[in-house]
Amino acid sequence: MNNFVYDVPVKVYFGENQLSNLGNELIKYGKKVLLTYGGGSIKKIGLYDKIVNELEKFGLELFELSGIEPNPRIESVREGAKICKEQNIDVLLAVGGGSTIDATKYIAAGACVDFDPWDFFSKWAPIEKALPIVTILTLSAAGSEMDSGGVISNLETKDKIGRLSPYLLPKVSFLDPTLTYTVSPYQTACGSVDMMAHIMEVYFNIEKDFYMLDCFMEGMMKTIIKYTPIAMKEPENYEARANLMWTSSWAINGFVNGGKKQEWSCHPMEHELSAIYDITHGLGLALLIPRWLEYCLDETTVSKYYQFGVNVFDIDKNLEQMEVAKESIKRLSKFFFNTLGLDSTFTKVGIKQEDFEIMAQKACSNGTIKGFKTLNKEDIIKIFEMCL
Ligand code: NZQ
Ligand code: ZN
Repeated sequence: MNNFVYDVPVKVYFGENQLSNLGNELIKYGKKVLLTYGGGSIKKIGLYDKIVNELEKFGLELFELSGIEPNPRIESVREGAKICKEQNIDVLLAVGGGSTIDATKYIAAGACVDFDPWDFFSKWAPIEKALPIVTILTLSAAGSEMDSGGVISNLETKDKIGRLSPYLLPKVSFLDPTLTYTVSPYQTACGSVDMMAHIMEVYFNIEKDFYMLDCFMEGMMKTIIKYTPIAMKEPENYEARANLMWTSSWAINGFVNGGKKQEWSCHPMEHELSAIYDITHGLGLALLIPRWLEYCLDETTVSKYYQFGVNVFDIDKNLEQMEVAKESIKRLSKFFFNTLGLDSTFTKVGIKQEDFEIMAQKACSNGTIKGFKTLNKEDIIKIFEMCL
């Protein structure tokens, strides 16, 4: 293990009927609450009314920002920050998936500065403060409910950029699996690929000595593989939704990192796909991951694939390492494209070769991605070509 600091002070209320604690938690931070949400799913599932009711019980004053988009835009962040400043908001309540929570994090930070919140991304302006954030998660995927990250899109500049700051950690997150019953099979699938990716970006690593964390990650990957098809077929299966929801948080809350130094590979590549084509994050990852694995497979990396194949997909451990490695990539592709039914090529989702150059350039803006295998622009273009 390496040296590391693990400090994730997010209070989690997990399970059904926990919203009775919402008012109690919010009022600790003040009376003026800005409720942020997306395109309206929270109204369809009756959650909006429940929230209003809980806030009324505590005499909290409600302000709203709705319409936060998937791949959230900087415009929503600007608008939210403006409301916070004009109304002297005390606390933000983000209700939704990763997009709503991510946008809310930058609203919370944007409310505390005099400059345009896009400067957090374009100029790496310091994040030194943020308003407190409480979240109610409605989709198991990004893990924003328990991490310090957030990713914002700018359609004008065709950028989608993520950043971390401890100030962006939610104070409290409510994780009620029943709130995910209405998530469509497609979004359930994409969410699970995203969680899988968060784990694989760390798991596929050449650093040694992480036995305990490897076992934990293998357990989470098996959980995703077991429960996603169940949740897609039986949307109201509590066991499946609950297992996926808790995995969403633990896949990316920092616990599995163990101080590993390597950068993530598929996420920077995927953010460029979403930036130009506005595709669902999990779909972009499903397209990239099997090809990235194929590209990085050689004699120096094969043992990790072997471990993955044997421990996650139960492939016969007596087979040759390389055989197990190739079979593990096949099984993963089958899981993404057959079991989950996601589109399997760039061509099917309309991603064109003419954009490979610019997307590859931006994905390795520091020259290379120092991941499982170091990737330069040419490597990334080759991986994109494998996805066609
Ligand atoms: O907008 P509404 O109406 O709420 O509908 C949403 C949206 O259309 C819908 N949905 C959410 N909960 C629902 C529901 N529909 C029915 N029933 C419910 N209970 O699902 C759609 C997708 O929502 P979104 O929030 O975009 O999905 P997700 O949670 O996958 O978030 C994706 C965003 O998170 C970023 C991604 O880049 C992407 O922008 N990420 C954030 C990370 C982080 N904070 O650390 C890390 C991730 O790697 C990721 O990059
Ligand atoms: Zn992700």
